[in-house]
Amino acid sequence: MATILVVDDDDAFREGLAETLSDLGHRVVQAPSGEAALQVLHGGLAADCIFLDFRLPGLDGLGVLERLRGDAALKPVPVVMLTAHATSDNTIGAMRLGAFEHLTKPVGRNDIAVLLERIFSASQRPATGPDEAPFAGEPISDRPLLLGVSEAMRAVQKQLGRAATSDATVLITGETGTGKEVAARVLHEASRRRDGQFVAVNCAAIPHDLLESELFGHGKGAFTGAATERTGRIVEADGGTLFLDEIGDMPPAMQAKLLRVLQEKNVTPLGTSRTLPVDVRVVAATHRDLDAMVSAGEFRQDLLYRLNVIPLHLPPLRERIADILPLAEHFLAAATKPAHRVMHLSAQAQRRLVGHPWPGNVRELKNAIERVCSLAPGPAITGDDLAFLRGTSVPAEHVLPADLADLPLAEAIERVERAMIVRALALASGNRADAARRLGISRQSLYTKMAGLGLN
Ligand SMILES: Nc1ncnc2c1ncn2[C@@H]1O[C@H](COP(=O)(O)OP(=O)(O)OP(=O)(O)O)[C@@H](O)[C@H]1O
Ligand SMILES: [Mg+2]
Repeated sequence: MATILVVDDDDAFREGLAETLSDLGHRVVQAPSGEAALQVLHGGLAADCIFLDFRLPGLDGLGVLERLRGDAALKPVPVVMLTAHATSDNTIGAMRLGAFEHLTKPVGRNDIAVLLERIFSASQRPATGPDEAPFAGEPISDRPLLLGVSEAMRAVQKQLGRAATSDATVLITGETGTGKEVAARVLHEASRRRDGQFVAVNCAAIPHDLLESELFGHGKGAFTGAATERTGRIVEADGGTLFLDEIGDMPPAMQAKLLRVLQEKNVTPLGTSRTLPVDVRVVAATHRDLDAMVSAGEFRQDLLYRLNVIPLHLPPLRERIADILPLAEHFLAAATKPAHRVMHLSAQAQRRLVGHPWPGNVRELKNAIERVCSLAPGPAITGDDLAFLRGTSVPAEHVLPADLADLPLAEAIERVERAMIVRALALASGNRADAARRLGISRQSLYTKMAGLGLN
Protein backbone atom coordinates (compact mmCIF):
# COMPACT_ATOMS: atom_id res chain seq x y z
CA MET A 1 0.00 0.00 0.00
CA ALA A 2 1.29 3.39 -0.98
CA THR A 3 0.24 6.86 0.08
CA ILE A 4 -0.94 8.87 -2.89
CA LEU A 5 -1.78 12.57 -2.96
CA VAL A 6 -4.38 13.62 -5.51
CA VAL A 7 -4.46 17.31 -6.39
CA ASP A 8 -7.36 18.55 -8.51
CA ASP A 9 -9.92 21.32 -8.17
CA ASP A 10 -12.53 19.29 -10.04
CA ASP A 11 -14.26 17.57 -7.12
CA ALA A 12 -15.92 14.87 -9.19
CA PHE A 13 -12.74 13.93 -11.00
CA ARG A 14 -10.63 14.03 -7.84
CA GLU A 15 -13.02 11.89 -5.86
CA GLY A 16 -13.39 9.42 -8.73
CA LEU A 17 -9.65 9.04 -9.02
CA ALA A 18 -9.31 8.75 -5.24
CA GLU A 19 -11.87 5.96 -5.24
CA THR A 20 -10.06 4.06 -7.99
CA LEU A 21 -6.77 4.42 -6.13
CA SER A 22 -8.32 3.20 -2.86
CA ASP A 23 -9.85 0.29 -4.74
CA LEU A 24 -6.40 -0.59 -5.96
CA GLY A 25 -5.39 -0.79 -2.31
CA HIS A 26 -3.75 2.55 -1.66
CA ARG A 27 -4.13 5.24 0.95
CA VAL A 28 -5.31 8.46 -0.67
CA VAL A 29 -5.09 12.05 0.49
CA GLN A 30 -6.91 14.71 -1.50
CA ALA A 31 -6.13 18.38 -2.03
CA PRO A 32 -8.34 20.78 -4.01
CA SER A 33 -5.57 23.25 -4.87
CA GLY A 34 -1.83 23.56 -5.34
CA GLU A 35 -1.50 25.58 -2.16
CA ALA A 36 -3.39 22.95 -0.17
CA ALA A 37 -1.15 20.23 -1.60
CA LEU A 38 2.04 22.04 -0.59
CA GLN A 39 0.57 22.60 2.84
CA VAL A 40 -0.11 18.90 3.50
CA LEU A 41 3.33 17.98 2.18
CA HIS A 42 5.02 20.53 4.41
CA GLY A 43 2.83 19.26 7.21
CA GLY A 44 4.73 15.99 6.90
CA LEU A 45 2.63 13.84 4.60
CA ALA A 46 4.99 11.19 3.24
CA ALA A 47 3.43 10.73 -0.19
CA ASP A 48 4.84 8.00 -2.40
CA CYS A 49 3.32 9.49 -5.50
CA ILE A 50 1.37 12.61 -6.51
CA PHE A 51 -1.32 12.96 -9.15
CA LEU A 52 -1.31 16.62 -10.06
CA ASP A 53 -3.76 18.50 -12.24
CA PHE A 54 -2.40 21.10 -14.66
CA ARG A 55 -5.00 23.78 -14.47
CA LEU A 56 -5.61 24.79 -10.89
CA PRO A 57 -6.88 28.01 -9.40
CA GLY A 58 -3.99 30.04 -7.97
CA LEU A 59 -0.73 28.13 -8.22
CA ASP A 60 -1.07 25.84 -11.24
CA GLY A 61 0.28 22.33 -11.70
CA LEU A 62 3.59 23.37 -13.25
CA GLY A 63 4.03 25.91 -10.45
CA VAL A 64 3.46 23.21 -7.84
CA LEU A 65 5.88 20.90 -9.64
CA GLU A 66 8.49 23.65 -9.72
CA ARG A 67 8.09 24.26 -5.97
CA LEU A 68 8.34 20.54 -5.25
CA ARG A 69 11.53 20.27 -7.27
CA GLY A 70 13.04 23.38 -5.75
CA ASP A 71 12.25 22.59 -2.13
CA ALA A 72 15.08 20.73 -0.41
CA ALA A 73 12.83 20.05 2.59
CA LEU A 74 10.61 17.75 0.52
CA LYS A 75 11.76 14.36 -0.58
CA PRO A 76 11.64 13.78 -4.35
CA VAL A 77 8.48 11.92 -5.24
CA PRO A 78 7.14 10.73 -8.61
CA VAL A 79 4.58 13.17 -9.98
CA VAL A 80 1.99 12.27 -12.59
CA MET A 81 0.64 15.33 -14.35
CA LEU A 82 -2.97 15.26 -15.47
CA THR A 83 -4.52 17.45 -18.09
CA ALA A 84 -7.76 17.71 -19.98
CA HIS A 85 -5.91 19.14 -22.97
CA ALA A 86 -2.45 17.89 -23.79
CA THR A 87 -0.44 20.47 -25.69
CA SER A 88 3.11 20.08 -26.89
CA ASP A 89 4.11 22.82 -24.46
CA ASN A 90 2.54 21.40 -21.33
CA THR A 91 3.86 17.93 -22.15
CA ILE A 92 7.40 19.21 -22.66
CA GLY A 93 7.14 21.54 -19.65
CA ALA A 94 6.03 18.77 -17.34
CA MET A 95 8.73 16.36 -18.44
CA ARG A 96 11.38 19.08 -18.23
CA LEU A 97 10.44 19.59 -14.60
CA GLY A 98 10.90 15.91 -14.05
CA ALA A 99 7.32 14.67 -14.04
CA PHE A 100 7.15 10.91 -14.12
CA GLU A 101 4.32 10.86 -16.60
CA HIS A 102 1.88 13.13 -18.35
CA LEU A 103 -1.65 11.83 -18.79
CA THR A 104 -4.71 13.16 -20.49
CA LYS A 105 -8.11 12.91 -18.83
CA PRO A 106 -10.13 10.82 -18.62
CA VAL A 107 -7.79 8.20 -17.22
CA GLY A 108 -8.96 4.60 -17.19
CA ARG A 109 -8.60 2.33 -14.16
CA ASN A 110 -6.38 -0.01 -16.09
CA ASP A 111 -4.06 2.81 -17.17
CA ILE A 112 -3.71 3.81 -13.54
CA ALA A 113 -2.93 0.29 -12.40
CA VAL A 114 -0.27 -0.09 -15.07
CA LEU A 115 1.15 3.32 -14.27
CA LEU A 116 1.41 2.63 -10.54
CA GLU A 117 3.16 -0.62 -11.28
CA ARG A 118 5.68 1.29 -13.36
CA ILE A 119 6.13 3.90 -10.66
CA PHE A 120 6.61 1.51 -7.82
CA SER A 121 8.84 -0.84 -9.74
CA ALA A 122 10.68 2.35 -10.73
CA SER A 123 11.16 1.03 -14.21
CA GLN A 124 10.89 4.08 -16.40
CA ARG A 125 9.87 2.77 -19.75
CA PRO A 126 8.45 5.28 -22.23
CA ALA A 127 4.77 6.05 -22.00
CA THR A 128 2.18 3.83 -23.56
CA GLY A 129 -1.55 3.67 -23.25
CA PRO A 130 -4.33 5.30 -25.16
CA ASP A 131 -4.57 9.01 -24.92
CA GLU A 132 -6.79 10.39 -27.59
CA ALA A 133 -6.08 13.96 -26.71
CA PRO A 134 -7.92 16.74 -28.43
CA PHE A 135 -5.70 19.18 -30.28
CA ALA A 136 -7.27 22.18 -28.61
CA GLY A 137 -5.22 24.63 -26.64
CA GLU A 138 -2.32 24.83 -29.08
CA PRO A 139 -1.90 28.52 -29.77
CA ILE A 140 -1.12 29.87 -33.21
CA SER A 141 2.17 31.57 -32.58
CA ASP A 142 5.50 32.43 -34.08
CA ARG A 143 7.27 30.33 -31.51
CA PRO A 144 8.40 26.95 -32.77
CA LEU A 145 5.91 24.27 -31.80
CA LEU A 146 6.26 20.54 -32.23
CA LEU A 147 2.61 19.65 -32.44
CA GLY A 148 1.20 16.17 -32.34
CA VAL A 149 -1.33 14.08 -30.49
CA SER A 150 -0.34 10.67 -31.78
CA GLU A 151 1.22 8.25 -29.35
CA ALA A 152 4.46 8.52 -31.34
CA MET A 153 4.61 12.32 -31.15
CA ARG A 154 3.62 12.41 -27.50
CA ALA A 155 6.56 10.11 -26.84
CA VAL A 156 8.84 12.48 -28.79
CA GLN A 157 7.55 15.48 -26.82
CA LYS A 158 8.22 13.68 -23.55
CA GLN A 159 11.73 12.73 -24.65
CA LEU A 160 12.36 16.34 -25.67
CA GLY A 161 11.24 17.61 -22.29
CA ARG A 162 13.61 15.20 -20.56
CA ALA A 163 16.45 16.07 -22.92
CA ALA A 164 15.94 19.77 -22.16
CA THR A 165 17.26 19.26 -18.62
CA SER A 166 20.71 18.18 -19.76
CA ASP A 167 23.48 19.40 -22.03
CA ALA A 168 23.95 16.03 -23.67
CA THR A 169 24.32 15.91 -27.43
CA VAL A 170 21.15 15.03 -29.30
CA LEU A 171 20.94 13.33 -32.68
CA ILE A 172 17.63 13.92 -34.43
CA THR A 173 16.73 11.57 -37.26
CA GLY A 174 13.75 11.42 -39.56
CA GLU A 175 12.70 11.78 -43.15
CA THR A 176 12.53 15.14 -44.85
CA GLY A 177 9.87 17.46 -43.47
CA THR A 178 9.21 15.50 -40.29
CA GLY A 179 10.13 18.44 -38.06
CA LYS A 180 13.77 17.87 -37.19
CA GLU A 181 14.60 21.55 -37.18
CA VAL A 182 11.47 22.51 -35.20
CA ALA A 183 12.36 19.83 -32.68
CA ALA A 184 15.85 21.31 -32.29
CA ARG A 185 14.43 24.82 -31.79
CA VAL A 186 11.84 23.62 -29.30
CA LEU A 187 14.56 21.79 -27.38
CA HIS A 188 16.66 24.97 -27.25
CA GLU A 189 13.68 27.03 -26.05
CA ALA A 190 12.87 24.49 -23.35
CA SER A 191 16.45 24.28 -22.10
CA ARG A 192 18.35 26.50 -19.70
CA ARG A 193 20.26 27.75 -22.76
CA ARG A 194 17.24 29.59 -24.12
CA ASP A 195 18.82 32.98 -23.44
CA GLY A 196 21.83 32.00 -25.52
CA GLN A 197 21.74 31.81 -29.29
CA PHE A 198 20.33 29.05 -31.43
CA VAL A 199 22.81 28.83 -34.29
CA ALA A 200 21.85 26.63 -37.23
CA VAL A 201 24.43 25.45 -39.74
CA ASN A 202 23.36 23.41 -42.72
CA CYS A 203 26.35 21.21 -43.50
CA ALA A 204 24.93 20.26 -46.89
CA ALA A 205 24.41 23.84 -48.05
CA ILE A 206 27.92 25.13 -47.38
CA PRO A 207 30.70 24.24 -49.82
CA HIS A 208 33.14 21.84 -48.18
CA ASP A 209 36.12 24.18 -48.42
CA LEU A 210 34.19 26.96 -46.64
CA LEU A 211 32.66 24.86 -43.90
CA GLU A 212 35.68 24.99 -41.64
CA SER A 213 35.96 28.78 -41.60
CA GLU A 214 32.16 29.00 -41.22
CA LEU A 215 32.27 26.82 -38.12
CA PHE A 216 35.61 27.80 -36.62
CA GLY A 217 36.06 31.36 -37.88
CA HIS A 218 39.34 32.68 -39.16
CA GLY A 219 41.97 35.29 -38.47
CA LYS A 220 42.78 38.16 -40.81
CA GLY A 221 44.67 36.88 -43.83
CA ALA A 222 44.17 33.23 -42.87
CA PHE A 223 43.65 32.39 -46.53
CA THR A 224 43.23 34.20 -49.84
CA GLY A 225 40.10 36.28 -49.54
CA ALA A 226 40.16 36.42 -45.76
CA ALA A 227 40.54 40.17 -45.62
CA THR A 228 38.95 40.52 -42.21
CA GLU A 229 38.64 38.42 -39.13
CA ARG A 230 35.53 36.30 -38.79
CA THR A 231 33.87 34.80 -35.73
CA GLY A 232 32.94 31.20 -36.29
CA ARG A 233 29.45 29.82 -35.77
CA ILE A 234 30.60 27.59 -32.91
CA VAL A 235 31.75 30.62 -30.94
CA GLU A 236 28.50 32.44 -31.81
CA ALA A 237 26.64 29.58 -30.18
CA ASP A 238 28.62 29.93 -26.95
CA GLY A 239 26.17 29.59 -24.08
CA GLY A 240 23.52 28.43 -26.53
CA THR A 241 22.80 25.61 -28.95
CA LEU A 242 24.63 24.71 -32.14
CA PHE A 243 22.33 22.96 -34.58
CA LEU A 244 24.28 20.98 -37.15
CA ASP A 245 21.75 20.15 -39.83
CA GLU A 246 22.44 17.45 -42.41
CA ILE A 247 25.38 16.20 -40.36
CA GLY A 248 25.62 13.21 -42.71
CA ASP A 249 26.93 15.60 -45.37
CA MET A 250 29.85 16.77 -43.26
CA PRO A 251 33.13 15.84 -44.99
CA PRO A 252 35.36 13.38 -43.07
CA ALA A 253 38.09 15.93 -42.35
CA MET A 254 35.54 18.20 -40.66
CA GLN A 255 34.08 15.26 -38.75
CA ALA A 256 37.45 14.77 -37.09
CA LYS A 257 37.66 18.46 -36.18
CA LEU A 258 34.16 18.52 -34.81
CA LEU A 259 34.92 15.51 -32.66
CA ARG A 260 37.85 17.39 -31.19
CA VAL A 261 35.62 20.37 -30.36
CA LEU A 262 33.16 18.10 -28.60
CA GLN A 263 35.93 16.48 -26.58
CA GLU A 264 38.05 19.49 -25.78
CA LYS A 265 35.37 22.19 -25.69
CA ASN A 266 37.49 24.77 -27.45
CA VAL A 267 38.06 26.02 -30.98
CA THR A 268 41.02 27.42 -32.84
CA PRO A 269 40.01 29.83 -35.64
CA LEU A 270 41.76 29.15 -38.96
CA GLY A 271 45.09 30.83 -39.32
CA THR A 272 45.38 31.72 -35.66
CA SER A 273 47.03 30.11 -32.69
CA ARG A 274 44.34 31.24 -30.27
CA THR A 275 42.33 28.64 -28.43
CA LEU A 276 38.86 29.86 -27.52
CA PRO A 277 36.92 27.95 -24.87
CA VAL A 278 33.30 27.30 -25.86
CA ASP A 279 30.26 26.08 -23.99
CA VAL A 280 27.82 24.83 -26.60
CA ARG A 281 25.22 22.17 -26.73
CA VAL A 282 25.34 20.35 -30.03
CA VAL A 283 22.15 19.10 -31.63
CA ALA A 284 22.67 17.32 -34.95
CA ALA A 285 20.11 16.19 -37.49
CA THR A 286 20.07 14.02 -40.55
CA HIS A 287 17.69 12.18 -42.84
CA ARG A 288 20.48 9.75 -43.68
CA ASP A 289 21.18 6.38 -42.14
CA LEU A 290 24.38 7.17 -40.24
CA ASP A 291 24.86 3.56 -39.15
CA ALA A 292 24.95 2.53 -42.79
CA MET A 293 27.32 5.40 -43.52
CA VAL A 294 29.61 4.19 -40.74
CA SER A 295 29.60 0.69 -42.25
CA ALA A 296 30.39 2.19 -45.63
CA GLY A 297 33.29 4.13 -44.12
CA GLU A 298 31.64 7.49 -44.87
CA PHE A 299 30.99 8.59 -41.32
CA ARG A 300 33.21 8.32 -38.29
CA GLN A 301 31.96 5.86 -35.76
CA ASP A 302 33.53 7.73 -32.84
CA LEU A 303 31.69 10.90 -33.88
CA LEU A 304 28.42 9.02 -34.22
CA TYR A 305 28.79 7.73 -30.64
CA ARG A 306 29.58 11.20 -29.47
CA LEU A 307 26.55 12.73 -31.22
CA ASN A 308 24.06 10.02 -30.47
CA VAL A 309 24.00 10.42 -26.69
CA ILE A 310 20.27 11.18 -26.84
CA PRO A 311 18.69 9.81 -30.02
CA LEU A 312 15.42 11.39 -31.08
CA HIS A 313 13.54 9.90 -34.00
CA LEU A 314 10.72 11.74 -35.74
CA PRO A 315 8.46 9.20 -37.39
CA PRO A 316 7.09 9.91 -40.86
CA LEU A 317 3.58 11.36 -40.98
CA ARG A 318 2.14 8.23 -42.62
CA GLU A 319 3.04 6.32 -39.46
CA ARG A 320 1.13 8.74 -37.25
CA ILE A 321 -2.14 9.15 -39.04
CA ALA A 322 -3.72 10.58 -35.89
CA ASP A 323 -1.67 13.76 -36.39
CA ILE A 324 -2.75 14.49 -39.95
CA LEU A 325 -6.09 16.20 -39.36
CA PRO A 326 -5.11 18.10 -36.21
CA LEU A 327 -2.03 19.44 -38.01
CA ALA A 328 -4.13 20.29 -41.07
CA GLU A 329 -6.62 22.19 -38.88
CA HIS A 330 -3.78 24.02 -37.20
CA PHE A 331 -2.15 25.05 -40.47
CA LEU A 332 -5.58 26.01 -41.82
CA ALA A 333 -6.27 28.27 -38.85
CA ALA A 334 -2.82 29.83 -39.15
CA ALA A 335 -3.18 30.40 -42.89
CA THR A 336 -6.65 31.93 -42.73
CA LYS A 337 -6.08 34.08 -39.66
CA PRO A 338 -4.38 37.06 -41.35
CA ALA A 339 -7.23 37.37 -43.88
CA HIS A 340 -9.92 36.80 -41.21
CA ARG A 341 -11.30 34.02 -43.34
CA VAL A 342 -12.95 30.98 -41.92
CA MET A 343 -12.44 27.76 -43.82
CA HIS A 344 -13.05 24.19 -42.93
CA LEU A 345 -12.30 20.76 -44.29
CA SER A 346 -15.17 18.76 -45.75
CA ALA A 347 -15.41 15.09 -44.86
CA GLN A 348 -14.23 14.25 -48.36
CA ALA A 349 -11.20 16.53 -47.99
CA GLN A 350 -10.41 14.95 -44.64
CA ARG A 351 -10.49 11.49 -46.17
CA ARG A 352 -8.16 12.60 -48.90
CA LEU A 353 -5.72 14.07 -46.41
CA VAL A 354 -5.73 10.95 -44.26
CA GLY A 355 -5.28 8.69 -47.28
CA HIS A 356 -2.34 10.56 -48.77
CA PRO A 357 1.05 8.98 -48.03
CA TRP A 358 2.81 12.34 -47.45
CA PRO A 359 6.27 11.58 -48.77
CA GLY A 360 7.20 15.18 -47.88
CA ASN A 361 5.71 14.73 -44.41
CA VAL A 362 4.59 17.74 -42.35
CA ARG A 363 6.20 20.22 -44.72
CA GLU A 364 4.15 18.81 -47.60
CA LEU A 365 0.99 18.96 -45.51
CA LYS A 366 1.63 22.55 -44.52
CA ASN A 367 2.29 23.55 -48.14
CA ALA A 368 -0.81 21.72 -49.31
CA ILE A 369 -3.00 23.54 -46.79
CA GLU A 370 -1.50 26.91 -47.63
CA ARG A 371 -1.99 26.25 -51.29
CA VAL A 372 -5.59 25.17 -50.92
CA CYS A 373 -6.34 28.20 -48.75
CA SER A 374 -5.24 30.60 -51.40
CA LEU A 375 -6.98 28.75 -54.22
CA ALA A 376 -10.16 27.19 -52.83
CA PRO A 377 -13.22 29.28 -53.64
CA GLY A 378 -15.60 28.42 -50.83
CA PRO A 379 -15.41 28.27 -47.06
CA ALA A 380 -15.60 24.48 -47.32
CA ILE A 381 -12.52 22.80 -48.73
CA THR A 382 -13.70 19.93 -50.91
CA GLY A 383 -11.95 16.78 -51.96
CA ASP A 384 -11.58 18.27 -55.43
CA ASP A 385 -9.76 21.27 -54.03
CA LEU A 386 -7.12 18.78 -52.94
CA ALA A 387 -7.01 16.97 -56.26
CA PHE A 388 -3.43 18.15 -56.75
CA LEU A 389 -2.37 15.69 -54.08
CA ARG A 390 -3.19 12.83 -56.37
CA GLY A 391 -0.21 13.51 -58.59
CA THR A 392 2.24 12.77 -55.83
CA SER A 393 0.30 9.96 -54.25
CA VAL A 394 0.10 6.26 -54.92
CA PRO A 395 -3.37 4.96 -55.89
CA ALA A 396 -5.93 5.12 -53.09
CA GLU A 397 -6.40 1.37 -52.80
CA HIS A 398 -2.72 1.01 -52.02
CA VAL A 399 -2.79 3.43 -49.16
CA LEU A 400 -2.66 1.96 -45.71
CA PRO A 401 -6.27 1.92 -44.52
CA ALA A 402 -6.77 4.26 -41.58
CA ASP A 403 -9.23 2.00 -39.88
CA LEU A 404 -8.71 -1.73 -39.78
CA ALA A 405 -10.49 -2.21 -36.50
CA ASP A 406 -13.56 -3.94 -37.92
CA LEU A 407 -11.68 -6.64 -39.77
CA PRO A 408 -10.71 -10.06 -38.46
CA LEU A 409 -7.07 -9.90 -37.36
CA ALA A 410 -5.64 -12.15 -40.07
CA GLU A 411 -7.35 -10.14 -42.77
CA ALA A 412 -6.26 -6.84 -41.27
CA ILE A 413 -2.66 -8.02 -41.07
CA GLU A 414 -2.75 -9.19 -44.66
CA ARG A 415 -4.21 -5.84 -45.76
CA VAL A 416 -1.54 -3.94 -43.87
CA GLU A 417 1.25 -6.12 -45.27
CA ARG A 418 -0.04 -5.74 -48.77
CA ALA A 419 -0.47 -1.97 -48.47
CA MET A 420 2.95 -1.52 -46.89
CA ILE A 421 4.67 -3.60 -49.56
CA VAL A 422 2.87 -1.96 -52.47
CA ARG A 423 3.63 1.46 -51.09
CA ALA A 424 7.27 0.65 -50.39
CA LEU A 425 7.61 -0.62 -53.95
CA ALA A 426 5.94 2.51 -55.29
CA LEU A 427 8.18 4.78 -53.22
CA ALA A 428 11.19 2.77 -54.38
CA SER A 429 10.06 3.05 -58.02
CA GLY A 430 9.81 -0.71 -58.21
CA ASN A 431 13.33 -1.34 -56.95
CA ARG A 432 12.91 -4.39 -54.73
CA ALA A 433 16.18 -4.03 -52.85
CA ASP A 434 15.26 -0.47 -51.94
CA ALA A 435 11.69 -1.48 -51.02
CA ALA A 436 13.00 -4.24 -48.74
CA ARG A 437 15.29 -1.75 -47.04
CA ARG A 438 12.40 0.67 -46.48
CA LEU A 439 10.39 -2.16 -44.95
CA GLY A 440 13.30 -3.24 -42.79
CA ILE A 441 13.19 -6.82 -44.09
CA SER A 442 15.54 -8.86 -46.24
CA ARG A 443 15.08 -9.00 -49.98
CA GLN A 444 14.45 -12.74 -49.72
CA SER A 445 11.68 -12.24 -47.23
CA LEU A 446 10.14 -9.52 -49.43
CA TYR A 447 10.04 -12.00 -52.33
CA THR A 448 8.44 -14.64 -50.13
CA LYS A 449 5.81 -12.22 -48.87
CA MET A 450 5.07 -10.92 -52.37
CA ALA A 451 4.58 -14.46 -53.64
CA GLY A 452 2.32 -15.25 -50.71
CA LEU A 453 0.18 -12.20 -51.39
CA GLY A 454 0.11 -12.84 -55.13
CA LEU A 455 1.96 -9.63 -55.88
CA ASN A 456 4.29 -9.32 -58.83
N1 LIG B 1 5.13 18.58 -35.30
C1 LIG B 1 5.04 19.73 -35.99
N2 LIG B 1 4.23 20.72 -35.56
C2 LIG B 1 4.15 21.88 -36.25
N3 LIG B 1 4.83 22.15 -37.37
C3 LIG B 1 5.64 21.20 -37.84
C4 LIG B 1 5.80 19.96 -37.17
N4 LIG B 1 6.68 19.21 -37.87
C5 LIG B 1 7.05 19.95 -38.92
N5 LIG B 1 6.44 21.15 -38.92
C6 LIG B 1 6.58 22.19 -39.95
O1 LIG B 1 6.92 21.55 -41.16
C7 LIG B 1 7.97 22.22 -41.84
C8 LIG B 1 9.18 21.32 -41.96
O2 LIG B 1 9.76 21.09 -40.69
P1 LIG B 1 11.35 21.03 -40.48
O3 LIG B 1 12.01 22.06 -41.31
O4 LIG B 1 11.62 21.04 -39.04
O5 LIG B 1 11.62 19.60 -41.10
P2 LIG B 1 12.98 18.80 -41.25
O6 LIG B 1 12.78 17.46 -40.65
O7 LIG B 1 14.10 19.63 -40.73
O8 LIG B 1 13.08 18.63 -42.83
P3 LIG B 1 14.39 18.47 -43.79
O9 LIG B 1 14.97 17.12 -43.52
O10 LIG B 1 13.82 18.55 -45.16
O11 LIG B 1 15.31 19.58 -43.45
C9 LIG B 1 8.23 23.48 -41.04
O12 LIG B 1 7.45 24.52 -41.59
C10 LIG B 1 7.75 23.13 -39.65
O13 LIG B 1 7.34 24.26 -38.98
MG1 LIG C 1 15.67 20.53 -41.78
